Amino acid sequence: MQFSDVLKTRVSTRSFDSRPVPDGAIKSLVDAALYAPVGMHRYETLHLTVIKNPYVLEHVRALAVKATGDEKADPLHGAPVLIVVSTSLEGEIGALNVSCLVENMLLAATDLGLANLYVRGIITDAAKDADFLALARIPAGFTPVASVAVGYALAPVEPRETPKNNVTTVNYVD
Ligand SMILES: Cc1cc2nc3c(=O)[nH]c(=O)nc-3n(C[C@H](O)[C@H](O)[C@H](O)COP(=O)(O)O)c2cc1C
Repeated sequence: MQFSDVLKTRVSTRSFDSRPVPDGAIKSLVDAALYAPVGMHRYETLHLTVIKNPYVLEHVRALAVKATGDEKADPLHGAPVLIVVSTSLEGEIGALNVSCLVENMLLAATDLGLANLYVRGIITDAAKDADFLALARIPAGFTPVASVAVGYALAPVEPRETPKNNVTTVNYVD
């Protein structure tokens, strides 16, 4: 896909089907994350966790059920893969780095025809949940910050001709 088409086609998907994602595609997403810029080259402060285990995905969903009281809550919207990005850096630099890895994976997934979603909300809960940290084998000293849910969309994703965002302001200082 042309890069401009990748930008136009990337969209948050909130209805995935259960088709598994090929391991080669997951590897491409991980590779894409590793090309992301990282502040002060602190690559060792980041960790990726690829979760395909249905029991662990269900645990994440259960955290959302607990938090919302809604039995149907599913922050992953049925996605069969969740790639969690953790950092050992406190403060905004850690989160900024995480977001760069996440965006690279969103764009790479789009390029591969995979539906994707930036999932942050439930990860803040998961980061405080000892069972999740153990199940996902998050390394000691690392905090999960954000994630990418990946799979196949139930409905086809259409490229946007114009950005959804027509609100953000821009000024040019020449
Ligand atoms: C930092 C960040 C956190 C986000 N967290 C969530 C989330 O927890 N759950 C979710 O459904 N979408 C989440 N999103 C997706 C946004 O809601 C989505 O990108 C936005 O509505 C724009 O829509 P688009 O991605 O289709 O362009 C997040 C996006 C960003 C950048």
